[in-house]
Amino acid sequence: MLTYDLSERGSTPIYEYLARRIREAVLTGELPAGERLPSKRALAEHLGISVITVEAAYAQLEAEGCILASPRRGYFVAEAALGPRVSAPEAPPAPCAGPRHWELDLRGSRVDTSRFPVAAWARLTRQVLSEGGGALLSPVPHQGLRPLREEISAFLAGYKGMSAPPERIVVGAGAEFMYIMLAQLMGPGAAVAVEDPGYPKIRQVYSRSGARCIPLPLDGGGVSPEALRASPARSLHISPSHQFPTGLVTPVPRRQALLRWAEETGGYIIEDDYDSELRFSGKPLPTLQSIDGAGRVVYMNTFSQTISPSMRIGYMVLPPELMDRWLRELDFYSCAVPALEQHVLARFLSGGHYERHLARMRKEYRSLRSDVLSAFRSSPFAGRIEIVERGAGLHFLLRLDTDLPDSELRDRADAEGVRLAFLSDYSAAHPAPEHTLVISYAGLSREQLPRAMELLDRVFRK
Ligand SMILES: Cc1ncc(COP(=O)(O)O)c(C=O)c1O
Repeated sequence: MLTYDLSERGSTPIYEYLARRIREAVLTGELPAGERLPSKRALAEHLGISVITVEAAYAQLEAEGCILASPRRGYFVAEAALGPRVSAPEAPPAPCAGPRHWELDLRGSRVDTSRFPVAAWARLTRQVLSEGGGALLSPVPHQGLRPLREEISAFLAGYKGMSAPPERIVVGAGAEFMYIMLAQLMGPGAAVAVEDPGYPKIRQVYSRSGARCIPLPLDGGGVSPEALRASPARSLHISPSHQFPTGLVTPVPRRQALLRWAEETGGYIIEDDYDSELRFSGKPLPTLQSIDGAGRVVYMNTFSQTISPSMRIGYMVLPPELMDRWLRELDFYSCAVPALEQHVLARFLSGGHYERHLARMRKEYRSLRSDVLSAFRSSPFAGRIEIVERGAGLHFLLRLDTDLPDSELRDRADAEGVRLAFLSDYSAAHPAPEHTLVISYAGLSREQLPRAMELLDRVFRK
């Protein structure tokens, strides 16, 4: 007879504790498949508990597929109960390797989070919570909270001179989520031209979402309108203000030519404005969205770069025709950003914290960038490099004069604990020039720079 000391169950209800002990006995093979369990009445009497309690435990185990009830015969251990039988304790899982620690990491989307005004964010969070559950626990519109959309709209108007009414803004869990939505909005099999080289997730997410990606090469101004016209693409996804990874800025005449393509073909341009707020010299060019008179541009941006990728909040501004389509076809998706974060971010924007944070970060990155560039320019390998940068963003290109292939440079870097990214890592269909590194500098500290140059010198040495 099954004998358990029920006093060991603590605050767990008896039926739950009994089910757990029987389940363990089944999983360890102590109760083999086909074994008959005591009747409910007999077990209840044996353990000094009610029949109803045993019944509840058996019902739970039956629902889990752990035991079977056979009419008029009783309960039996099931053949394929919950999982593999283990007669001995399981071996401890192999230790997880975890991400590699790099002494120098020049790749990846790290941002400097040390200056984020955590205290202000905490205060705004407490404020939202202390106002009671009303706003916080109310349903969130599928497009995102109205106050957040209003603040984004005001920010875009003030900061970028854009007209983006809250009614045409959709908030979502970062740029990736927007790509999924856009692929669904364009419909299955839609042909989308993307920049090559480009941010690989754009290709990955579109392809996985059923779109057909057409990688187009970049010339000095970005995607060429001729290449676009010669392709079957009906949509174009670009980052004209600071392309990742080349850093290209698409000049105004090229922007106009791309808009003409969209107007004439009834196509759409998705303007991925990631990396646009951090411009260190010169004036930013107006967004495509703000010079589009025909409603052919979807504008999208994210707080990943300016706050942190962990924020997972992005948004898009849809032109009227696509907004109508979104409301008709995709408005069943719940907004994937929790209400609390949306309320806090809305207040962060309305209280001016975001703009102040941006100004601080721009100053900080400008100074860090200048120190990083000086370190490269006075490094032992300074005579063999060319730096290609456009006074913007958190990355720049570095061309190295070497005969070593990228693969060998990467192996050498690996051995020194250095993580590098090459332009060729981001290309899809068109080979990128060799020996061109994409340097993401935001995660570096000034103190690290002398050692960084020493390590790179070893990697680059002939
Ligand atoms: C063009 C572009 N868009 C978006 C992102 C990241 O956006 P999110 O973190 O919101 O997915 C990146 C990151 O490198 C990018 O290069």
